[in-house]
Amino acid sequence: MSDLALDAVVDLDVPGPTIDRHLYGQFAEHLGRCVYEGFWVGEDSSVPNEGGIRLDVVEALRELRIPNLRWPGGCFADSYHWRDGVGPREERPRIANVHWGDVVEDNAFGTHEFLALCDLLGTEPYVSANVGSGTVQETADWVEYLTRGDDAPMARLRREHGRDEPWAVTFFGLGNEPWGCGGNLRADQYASLARLHSTYARDLSGNKLQRVAAGANEDDYAWTETLMKQVSKRLGDEDPAPLFQAVSFHYYTIPGTWGAKGSATDFDQDAYWTTMRKAHRVRDLIRGHSAVMDAYDPHAKVALALDEWGTWFDVEPGTEPGFLYQQNTMRDALVAAVHFDAFHDNARRLRLANVAQVVNVLQSMVLTDGARMLRTPTFHAFAMSAGHQDAAALTVHDVAARGARDVDGTALPTVSTSASVKEGSVLVSLTNLDPGAPARVRVALRGGSVTLDGATVLAAPEGAVSDDAVRVHNTFDSPDAVAPRELSAVSVTTTAGQNVLEATLPPASFTTVRLTLP
Ligand code: AHR
Repeated sequence: MSDLALDAVVDLDVPGPTIDRHLYGQFAEHLGRCVYEGFWVGEDSSVPNEGGIRLDVVEALRELRIPNLRWPGGCFADSYHWRDGVGPREERPRIANVHWGDVVEDNAFGTHEFLALCDLLGTEPYVSANVGSGTVQETADWVEYLTRGDDAPMARLRREHGRDEPWAVTFFGLGNEPWGCGGNLRADQYASLARLHSTYARDLSGNKLQRVAAGANEDDYAWTETLMKQVSKRLGDEDPAPLFQAVSFHYYTIPGTWGAKGSATDFDQDAYWTTMRKAHRVRDLIRGHSAVMDAYDPHAKVALALDEWGTWFDVEPGTEPGFLYQQNTMRDALVAAVHFDAFHDNARRLRLANVAQVVNVLQSMVLTDGARMLRTPTFHAFAMSAGHQDAAALTVHDVAARGARDVDGTALPTVSTSASVKEGSVLVSLTNLDPGAPARVRVALRGGSVTLDGATVLAAPEGAVSDDAVRVHNTFDSPDAVAPRELSAVSVTTTAGQNVLEATLPPASFTTVRLTLP
């Protein structure tokens, strides 16, 4: 066992910024088996469905309290013409999905189906517009179709298609990865286009859009600066309505290279640690983009959005390369846990994030095989963290990260933690990245007296170490090989009037501890 791998102090009476629930957003693209099969099975399917949307997936995902769902892409968004996906299904055009496998897209799942899915999930829509190959008029019309309540032409068209009331749309993306699949644009070119589309994506009939400018790839801070120069022309106390309400960036955790990313399940300990080092990098990237934004927007009116993140491995052997289908192990759950801690620590500026993607693509919450469905380890990490949504972040001070490990020349802390408080409930997340040994942690809790309600741990079955601790995953024949269980090795003691939380974390595990303030 690592001796006292973490020694930290949390001030319960000093609440920090709110951890925006939208940091726990999801992403569904017309890619592989995400939308089709993952959600959409059609009304005639033998898989139980409501209006064509499969109910087993919906019921599972409702456990996550998903705050927002990004759609229809991704790269697909910049090839998508929304009119193809409205009106009678049998009349909708069939197009080629040129980004993902060149398969036929029959547009069965369009605007109405997406909003119906959001209703079933109880989630807010994040719609991404086509800036790459679409027109400004298409953007204006889509917003009118979605959100206008009166007798405007697009509102009439929506009614002809069976929907009387406008929808409430929260987020509106202005294209996707314009530096790549979204047009191979320079930052200044995109900034001009984004200004145009943003202007015509109007707030209608009382709906208030959060417009998300498509941002940088990884550490392209110059891209963020170019966008912030645009947005700052409208910032200032006298004009609180910036052109964009958020600027995004994308970052994927890839253990290898784009050409040889590595297997999702068949990896060694070196690949494991490299994955964790790369996952940790998200913290530096969030801080880097935030620092650029601070210079132009010191009051953080514009949010930073990480609207694509997650692991990206080689596809499962025998599957279509363009479908990005990968398994999901305990390693993925730990990558998620590392991201959550970074999100909570940077909640003032980072207020939107979307893991890629929700079902059957990249780091998924659920996987499906015909009528079968399983929850991945990542699903469980999200479920265990739902209590952080809209809670106040609590700073974790004086961390003595004695478990730091040299990974490729980087000192990587092997224990990671974050905490929050909401309505008298405190949630502490504790992650032990070390697959070789348990970690004993001690956290002093100042400024309040707590009672311990319980702790939940996600890890391989007891006794597993090394490869067995991190490569473990759920299969359709064994869907609960990795599932949360109660952790008993947790206590809260009182020394000199101060509470101390102590826990022994199993190898390669993610734990949440629930405490109550009187
Ligand atoms: O999530 C898969 C793809 O990754 C998205 O379509 C694109 O935006 C990114 O490159």
